[in-house]
Order: sequence, then C-alpha cells, then structure tokens
Amino acid sequence: MRRMLDVLPESAEVRDGALAVGGLAANELADRFGTPLVVYCEQTLRSDARAYVDAAPADALVAYSVKAFPNVALIRLFAGLGLGADVSTLGELAYALRGGMTADRIVVHGNNKSDDELRAAAEADVGLLVIDAADDVPRAAAAGVRSVLVRVTPGIDVDTHPAIGTGYTGSKFGLPPDDAIEAIRRAREVGLEARGLHLHLGSQLLDAQAPRMGVDWLAGFAAECRAALEWTPAVVDVGGGLGIAHVDGERAPAIGDFVGALLARLQHAWRLHDLPPPRVLFEPGRSLVGRAAVTLYRVGVVKRASESTTYVAVDGGMSDNPRPQLYGVRHAAVVTSRVGAEADGQYTVCGKHCESGDVLIERIGLPAPRRGDLLAVPATGAYTLGMGSNYNGVPRPGVVLVSRGEARVIRRRETVDDLLALETNG
Ligand code: LLP
Repeated sequence: MRRMLDVLPESAEVRDGALAVGGLAANELADRFGTPLVVYCEQTLRSDARAYVDAAPADALVAYSVKAFPNVALIRLFAGLGLGADVSTLGELAYALRGGMTADRIVVHGNNKSDDELRAAAEADVGLLVIDAADDVPRAAAAGVRSVLVRVTPGIDVDTHPAIGTGYTGSKFGLPPDDAIEAIRRAREVGLEARGLHLHLGSQLLDAQAPRMGVDWLAGFAAECRAALEWTPAVVDVGGGLGIAHVDGERAPAIGDFVGALLARLQHAWRLHDLPPPRVLFEPGRSLVGRAAVTLYRVGVVKRASESTTYVAVDGGMSDNPRPQLYGVRHAAVVTSRVGAEADGQYTVCGKHCESGDVLIERIGLPAPRRGDLLAVPATGAYTLGMGSNYNGVPRPGVVLVSRGEARVIRRRETVDDLLALETNG
C-alpha cells in the first residue's frame, strides 16, 4: 500500500492510488453527495467510543460532549454503545433526546442557563445538572431539577490555546472553591440532591499531566468539602479535554492510556484523603468524533499570487471549519486521486470567503493540485461544521456516515432556499 496520512480515519485506504473511506472511493462520495462533504467513518467512531467504555469502570458514564458535533445519528450510535450525552443548551438537549439518549444519561451544563433550559432539563428529568453559578441553585430548584453536580474552578492552567482553557483562576466557567462549597451547602438546603463535583480544565490536551493534577486537586477539595459540610462527592465528573493529532507526527495519548492514567491517579488521590470511591463521569467531545471525519473539498482556482505563494482555492473554508483562524490549528491534506504522490511545491489552501484570513492550510506540500481535484482534510470531525456559519450566504455542507461500502446522509446539505426561508420581507 502507498504511504498514507496517519491522521486519516481507520477505514481509510488507497485503491489504485486514490483515497477511499468506509469502503467508498472519495471521488464517488463527492460525485454522489456534492462538495464540500464531511465524511464520518463509523469504524473509527465505534472504536474510539469502545476505547472509552472499555477503559472506564463498569459504573462509569462516558457522556459524549454534543457540542463537538451536534448530530442525531452520531448520538444514536453512541447511545447504542452505552454512552451518555453532555449538553449545554436547549438545542443540544433536543439533539440528545432526539438521538434516543435516555434522560438518566444526560448531563446538563451551561454558564448562563436560561429559565427555559432549566425547565426543559427538569421536564426531561435529566440525570444531572451542573451548577455553574450561585444563582443556578435556587433557579434549578424552582424549575424542579432534582440532582446536581457543582462545577469548581481549580485555578489550573493547561497547555492549550488560551481560548479553550477553562480551569484557570478567573475563568467564566464554574465556581471558585469557596463559592463552590457555599453552592453545595445551599443546594442541600433548598432540597437539591448534591451528587458530586465537576471539573473541566480545557480542550485539545496532548498529555495527561494537567488532568492528573486536576484530579489531585479535586481530591483535596473533596476533603475540604467533607470538613466544611460533612459531605463527600458520590460522583466525580472529570470533564473532557483529550486532544487529537491533526498532522502526522503530532502525538495524542491513546484513549485507554489517558483514561487509565486519570483513573489510577483518582484512586490514589482519593485513598490518600481517605474518601469513599466515587462514580466517575467522562465528557469527551473531540477525542470521540474528531479523528473520525475527513472533509472533501473540490479544488477550483489555483493561483500564483507571488513568488512565494500559490493559492489552491477550495469550495468551502471558514464557514465549515473556522478552527485554523480561531485556534491556529494546522491541518494536513491529500489530493485524493494521487495519494502518496510527490509534492511538486508548497501551496496555501484557501477557502472561497471574502477575507484574506480564510486560509485552511498555510504552505503545504501537494502534488500539482489542479481544478477539479478533490482535497481531503483529515481530523475535521470536532468543532468544525459544529462551529460553521453561513458567511457569504454559503449553505453548510452535507454530512455522510460511511461503513463497509455504504454511505448514509446524516445531515443533508443546506440550500440557499434554507437560508432564504429565514428571511422576511420586513
Ligand atoms: N465538558 C465540558 C464542560 C466542556 O466545556 C467541554 C468542551 C467538553 C466537556 C468537551 O471537551 P473536549 O473533550 O472536546 O475537549 N471550540 C473549541 C473547543 C471548545 C471546547 C469547549 N468545551 C475548539 O474547536 O477547539
């Protein structure tokens, strides 16, 4: 087999020099469903979900963080594998319920929950709601919520893009330790069942060091809670955060290693403080869906703009993947009909949007890309289309799930009519 990118989904293969995923040639998929097209590999989704379930204790809950890609079919797939869902808005809650997630496996977040969101959580009778502010307590109780966790901000900085760290002192998420203790006290006073604690340090973490520190910190905090309130957490939700590789050579811990390291540390830290072992919750987003998808784009204009820069313009861009702009992520790409062919130069892959920042990949070696070629960009399953927009009146791409030679549309492509349907004549 010819050399292929490691960051492609598990079912990716090269057939006669061309890329196939889920047993289907990329060019067939593009012809049948149009481009840009987000292609999720079911095999990868299943194996990453299983890696979490297998590494976690039997009574643990692995809750898919729906924000990574809110999609009913993916949620249905995860529900079938025994996973739960972490939601943070009314919309995400609706996706989870539509995806057949049972309410007891839903965890509701939000740093600014509306009354509607609190009521919907109570009406659905979700398993847990996460208190993120002091006034969540009386409002959740008034809405009829039963069981809560309290999210605490430990003051731990993580090695990731500043926009996606959340556990530092001054974060808009969670409560500082003293306020968290007060929230637990108040929650119990108003009749909420305070089940435990929540911590989420940040996203796209490429080692387990910070989460291990987080767990150590949490054990100390749980001991403080015991001293202050004669209360210990029956549930500990360690959030999400495990990163993925976007280019060959970038290393992310394997799911099993990451979960194993966290659990070992948690057990150790809990024992050290003589705390009763809690039920553990995980909330992975990116590491469940990120590596499973490739985005297929059609190449249009190829333009030599200066001696040093040649643009390869594709038919999508920042409206289906704003991450290069927002977080400086570096993506890989392959010309699907010439996988493994020698690059003939360096190209800058740009989108079709009206701004110069609409660059998907700065300077990447490609084999003489030309109009009509298909470009596959791997590791685009998380926070890409989910953060997409209709900038420039561009309808968002369709999404297919592929497995063993079959493709199912799991989100249809938007049309210009969909966009116009929202308009009024004023
Ligand atoms: N739990 C909570 C409470 C969260 O806030 C998040 C992500 C997760 C779980 C899932 O984290 P993950 O396993 O995906 O790292 N748009 C950004 C990522 C924002 C993450 C927000 N919270 C990006 O594209 O990198």
